[in-house]
Amino acid sequence: MVAKRGIGDVALKGRRVLLRVDYNVPQDASGQIADDRRIQESLPTLNHLRTAGARTVLLSHLGRPGGERNPRFSLKPVARRLSSLLGQPVPIAEDIVGIHALEMSARIENGQFLMLENLRFLPGEEANDPAFAGQLARLGELFVQDAFGVVHRTHASTVGVPKRLPSVAGLLVEREVRELSPLVDAPERPYAVIVGGAKVADKLPLLASFCGRADRILLGGALAFPFLRASGATLGTSPVEQGMEPAIAELNARASEAGTSIELPSDLVFERPGGSPPEVAAVGAVPADAAVYDIGPATRARFRAALEGTRTVFWNGPLGRAEDPRFAAGTREVLGALASVRGYHVGAGGDSARIAQDLGVMGGFQFVSTGGGAALEFVQGLELPGLAVLPNA
Ligand code: 3PG
Repeated sequence: MVAKRGIGDVALKGRRVLLRVDYNVPQDASGQIADDRRIQESLPTLNHLRTAGARTVLLSHLGRPGGERNPRFSLKPVARRLSSLLGQPVPIAEDIVGIHALEMSARIENGQFLMLENLRFLPGEEANDPAFAGQLARLGELFVQDAFGVVHRTHASTVGVPKRLPSVAGLLVEREVRELSPLVDAPERPYAVIVGGAKVADKLPLLASFCGRADRILLGGALAFPFLRASGATLGTSPVEQGMEPAIAELNARASEAGTSIELPSDLVFERPGGSPPEVAAVGAVPADAAVYDIGPATRARFRAALEGTRTVFWNGPLGRAEDPRFAAGTREVLGALASVRGYHVGAGGDSARIAQDLGVMGGFQFVSTGGGAALEFVQGLELPGLAVLPNA
């Protein structure tokens, strides 16, 4: 990936900067921030702007409010958390691009911040509406893209604004691009990919993109179910995504032609109804009334052995129901083994960072991306509109 112009390349003192961040953070039922990693990871850029004396307007979305105001998706809790992390107030302009936002942005002093309320409260954001992008652009004179998690979207704040203002990448975007690029640009072989989670339909393009680029793809989680079912296995009462057989056959053919092996679980951890302790069975021997929640010990040993000697590893998604300690062993053991494998290991997508953190396996990774869909598109080698629009260094 070609390097982009960065915040180190431009004058910042006294300049009104529009900083796009991805503060789409998980919240619990009471609206409390459940994981502030994305806020924490933006701090190097914010501190750089503060020290350099920029006057910064923060732009973000939170959730998918669908173009309507909805207090459940307000950025106020995020502004409060940020203000305590920075040790200075971060006021919110609730009208986003209205008269108050204009007045508040004109009053920002050097080194201070203002946050606009959730951009997705207005339909113009996701529609990349030119009028809305123009209104946003009027609030600043320089655009800084630091929202790596959303650079795969063609929205007003990711593409419309940088088309209207001089633009540079922030420190997080630079870091994400630097760390993810080795997975795409000539990765060291052998290259293993570990993919779990659910929704095989969503992940088929990702899996297909590794055919020929990776040496082996290890599959777990509910994602493996349709592959196991296609090979004739029964999976008790576990829900299996339907209608996937033709796509799986195509993927298998493509992988074997390209010399990439797709490796499936050979044993599984299941639970019977009534709360009895989890049991293990070989694939094909899961009882009809049981539900499968993890890969079994023989599979974990096979997957660990498959990772030995690899030089590049990409991981996305849990290999079982990792949030339940009874079914976390598969994910923990396989990812935990990476700590003793020499090479470059990267995790990305969905809740990967949180899962790795909770299971204590972060130590096996050189980098875990803040991106969900954006990171998955990046590692497929796709062009991301929010990066493509930024000028090269
Ligand atoms: C994410 O969490 O992946 C980003 O914030 C993008 O969110 P979106 O999928 O709602 O566009």
